[in-house]
Amino acid sequence: MDTVIRPWPVAFDGRATLTVCVNQRKETFVQSCGRDGAQDILAGLRAEISRRGLNIDLQTIACLGLCAKGPNARVAPSNTWFHKIRPSEVGLLLDSLSAQLEQAHSGEAGSAAQPTPPEPAER
Ligand code: FES
Repeated sequence: MDTVIRPWPVAFDGRATLTVCVNQRKETFVQSCGRDGAQDILAGLRAEISRRGLNIDLQTIACLGLCAKGPNARVAPSNTWFHKIRPSEVGLLLDSLSAQLEQAHSGEAGSAAQPTPPEPAER
């Protein structure tokens, strides 16, 4: 799993949204998250968020525009990304997100990560 952590808003005290791409294209010549385990990732995230009692809004989307790097998930409001997620990495993803949220809620959001430029859209 590749992670691109971006700074959280200063003094963020809201609820993070984790959006998972579940797009499953019929065409096999184009990569899609749904063909690479997104449903298993989504099920794992649902179960683990519930088990840990995390206050995270889990959403799905039909494409995040970075198909070649999938399966993908994006976090709002920080615009943090998780790429090439494997179902077995759901716990690691939530460990990372929980640590980011803890830091953001403690007011250290500005120093949580170095900003990285937005990635170009690709399909
Ligand atoms: S199919 Fe998942 S980002 Fe496009």
